[in-house]
Amino acid sequence: MNLKELFGYENKNVIITGASSGMAKSACELLIELGANVYAIDINPIDLPVTKSFQADLGRKETIERIIKELPDKIDAIFLCHAIAGFKGKELEVQLVNFYGQKYMLELLLPKVKDQGSITFISSVGGFGYEANYQNCLEIININDWDEAVNWYQNHPKLIENSYVFAKQCMNTYVTSKCMSKEFITRKIRINAICPGYTITGLTDDFNKSTSATNDAKEGQAIIENMFINGWNGYPASPKDMGYPLVTIGSNIFSYTSGECIYIDYGLTSNWKHQSLTNSPK
Ligand SMILES: NC(=O)c1ccc[n+]([C@@H]2O[C@H](COP(=O)([O-])OP(=O)(O)OC[C@H]3O[C@@H](n4cnc5c(N)ncnc54)[C@H](O)[C@@H]3O)[C@@H](O)[C@H]2O)c1
Repeated sequence: MNLKELFGYENKNVIITGASSGMAKSACELLIELGANVYAIDINPIDLPVTKSFQADLGRKETIERIIKELPDKIDAIFLCHAIAGFKGKELEVQLVNFYGQKYMLELLLPKVKDQGSITFISSVGGFGYEANYQNCLEIININDWDEAVNWYQNHPKLIENSYVFAKQCMNTYVTSKCMSKEFITRKIRINAICPGYTITGLTDDFNKSTSATNDAKEGQAIIENMFINGWNGYPASPKDMGYPLVTIGSNIFSYTSGECIYIDYGLTSNWKHQSLTNSPK
């Protein structure tokens, strides 16, 4: 069997964000290897031999609107991967970069996406339990105007206090609520997310700092390791552990999969679910 044909990316137009570093960079390397025409976007420079790279802040409406005009008219797959950590004082920015800007960009790009195309987000185990906030997430998902969305966030400070988590909850809700909606299902455009566990990437230091009340990276790291690693005597993932499944889920191999938030966390969240369903001690 020809593996390039199995994935189906050869000569296909693929958009990927956050490709300067971490998981999306790994994904980008594999996409190039599989013969895709890769259009990569990041706020930082991208040092990979992609078809075209763009350096742009995707947390800004005007930048998103400019970039989409420069992308090809026919798109086969989109990977939305960029994000920042949830520092106190950056609650609104986190929503705009980590979720709302991605929704905004995707919905502007959708007319360019070919029938049977695929959309894949990188969400997070941080979005686990998103069902509890589903109605709140739907409210922001249903707002299409950027300024109105900013206004909504400003009027819901409590909801976005845990900013990284709320943005990822919105992402999971988006995938779940949109997979059968007209704009996706009539053209059989698949939409999924991967939800990674703790992975060593360019975000690690900021995650560590933002997890500590005093921005102390060592303290934050200990809290994170306690939550994600120590309970199963585990180890952090590498960017490839996420980037390669990401590419696979967006490919023809996963042609009958849509609406899924796929946890790639060595079973951590399944175990959380098991513990809560059986009232086992944590
Ligand atoms: N690292 C982890 O432990 C972990 C766990 C769960 C989920 N995630 C998610 O994985 C995804 C990839 O992150 P990563 O861990 O590979 O980190 P990373 O920092 O290596 O990659 C994120 C990329 O996003 C880019 N970016 C940030 N703000 C941007 C903006 N405004 N416009 C354009 N690009 C921007 C950064 O420059 C960077 O290249 C993110 O969505 C993150 O939330 C990470």
